[in-house]
Amino acid sequence: MQANIVTLPGDGIGVDVVAEGVKVLRAVAAKFGHTFTFENHLIGGCAIDATGDPLPASTLDACRHADAVLLGAVGGPKWDDPTAKVRPEQGLLGLRQGLALYANLRPVQVFLELREASPLRPERLDGVDLVVVRELTGGLYFGPRKEATPDDMTAYDTMLYADYEVERIARKAFELARLRRKKVTSVDKANVLASSRLWRRVVTAVAADYPDVTWESMLVDSAAMHLLRRPADFDVIVTENTFGDILTDEASMLSGSMGMLASASLGAGSNGVYEPIHGSAPDIAGEGIANPLATILSVALLLRYSFGLGQEADAVEKAVADVIAEGYRTRDIYTAGMKRVNTEEMGAVVCQQL
Ligand code: IPM
Ligand code: MG
Repeated sequence: MQANIVTLPGDGIGVDVVAEGVKVLRAVAAKFGHTFTFENHLIGGCAIDATGDPLPASTLDACRHADAVLLGAVGGPKWDDPTAKVRPEQGLLGLRQGLALYANLRPVQVFLELREASPLRPERLDGVDLVVVRELTGGLYFGPRKEATPDDMTAYDTMLYADYEVERIARKAFELARLRRKKVTSVDKANVLASSRLWRRVVTAVAADYPDVTWESMLVDSAAMHLLRRPADFDVIVTENTFGDILTDEASMLSGSMGMLASASLGAGSNGVYEPIHGSAPDIAGEGIANPLATILSVALLLRYSFGLGQEADAVEKAVADVIAEGYRTRDIYTAGMKRVNTEEMGAVVCQQL
């Protein structure tokens, strides 16, 4: 197939890891006879530096016309001034909203050989295979808000949901569960929050359309605990934007490192944004030691969900599993006796394996 991919490396290690993702896409194109063209654009802090805007119109426009978008990360201490008018993160949020990417899929797998890299006891990780379906264009991130000012030192954010927003993300979760172990855990805070009570009501109604899928509601504090206590019991977790943000950083520890978790942000069409869940990691930016596997696994999701190339996606995921089995490790997942590699070397061995 022929496809146009927009790359948005962004800031910090985003630049390093997207370069490896592109390498893998080129290797896939060569091996399977596809033509992928790449168009690079600015987002986040680098876009603020160049244009004053974390999401320049040219970037959003290019993403709208792309077949898929591969993103690195945004942000860094340089742009962290709490009084600044614009922040790098606004670029990412604007992109998600601008493309109406309401469903964020974050699969959590445990590679057998990486069990030692997790802070959890290895036996706890047996059978862990879950996906967090995070609502991405509503909730606390996008509700009405007010910043504090010197004259009025109050500030607020609002967890606002309309029923249709909950319904469409719930349907995504139940559809996905049908392709997996047929279990949905809907995470909310319905004992306290009105928006969560709406969430629970709508999910309950949607669940009635999926009698073949078992489901439960769980309070978010309890879910945070059970994710560590019995992670293998989860299949599909569906939850509000902020809850999903927090739970996926927690869940990444099951797979050993933030550097292992991929994500797909999807809307109604086939276009999507694919990105590692880790951030720009300013402390190691430019050192060439970041783990590119989360981005490479995001490339697999891109091939599967935006291009319908299941075989190619499987091949990338298998190549990643193989290099891990062969002992290649970036610093974040390194354990004694393994083969230590940097970012570029990890990308290269995955391409070789392909
Ligand atoms: C994520 C990140 C972003 C988020 C930040 C960078 C705005 O933490 O994708 O999980 O909060 O959604
Ligand atoms: Mg996050």
